[in-house]
Amino acid sequence: MRVSTILVLTFASLAFGQQFKHPDNLAPNIPTPQLVVERMLEAAHLKPGEMVYDLGCGDGRIVITAAQKFQARAVGIELSRDIYEKTSARIHNMGLENRVTIVHGNALHTDLSPANVVTLYLLTSSNERLRPELERYLKPGSRVVSHDFEIRGWHPAVTERLEADGRVHSIFVYDIVAPKK
Ligand SMILES: C[S@@+](CC[C@H](N)C(=O)[O-])C[C@H]1O[C@@H](n2cnc3c(N)ncnc32)[C@H](O)[C@@H]1O
Repeated sequence: MRVSTILVLTFASLAFGQQFKHPDNLAPNIPTPQLVVERMLEAAHLKPGEMVYDLGCGDGRIVITAAQKFQARAVGIELSRDIYEKTSARIHNMGLENRVTIVHGNALHTDLSPANVVTLYLLTSSNERLRPELERYLKPGSRVVSHDFEIRGWHPAVTERLEADGRVHSIFVYDIVAPKK
């Protein structure tokens, strides 16, 4: 069995287990390796002062990196109260509260209009559920970057593969363009 297949099955079975806790649980809490985080933000051409939304922020590594390495502002949305509390405390302890906000909320019910870059590490089926929200809120010029799981029905501007923590990871970057008239 291929590593990518095993990854999807692991992710899906963990998410399935968590579905019983919350019907809008879009993925289990598995962090993106730091090398991949940095490459995701580089591939999205994140610029100083821009706003990143990480939908399902886990331990906050993407929003922290966006603020510390890219001088961006960032919002992390997190469904789990437990994870939200730990990550909020981490941001407070790092003194990043002026640039990073952690919200205890549901990515499926979030106003994404302030975002220049949206980051995702969610299942393909979850990306499918989020797609209408991304299409509704994101302005032309913004970018969506997804770790390992594509957004079906969209065409990535860039696809990259890199090795980290003993396996190959995929990065998909999508450019939001103005609708054709
Ligand atoms: C695979 S982890 C990714 C964490 C982080 N973005 C990263 O890449 O390291 C997915 C996270 O999404 C959270 N999550 C799942 N469903 C969510 C939802 N509907 N709204 C917000 N967060 C959600 C989970 O609790 C978990 O922390």
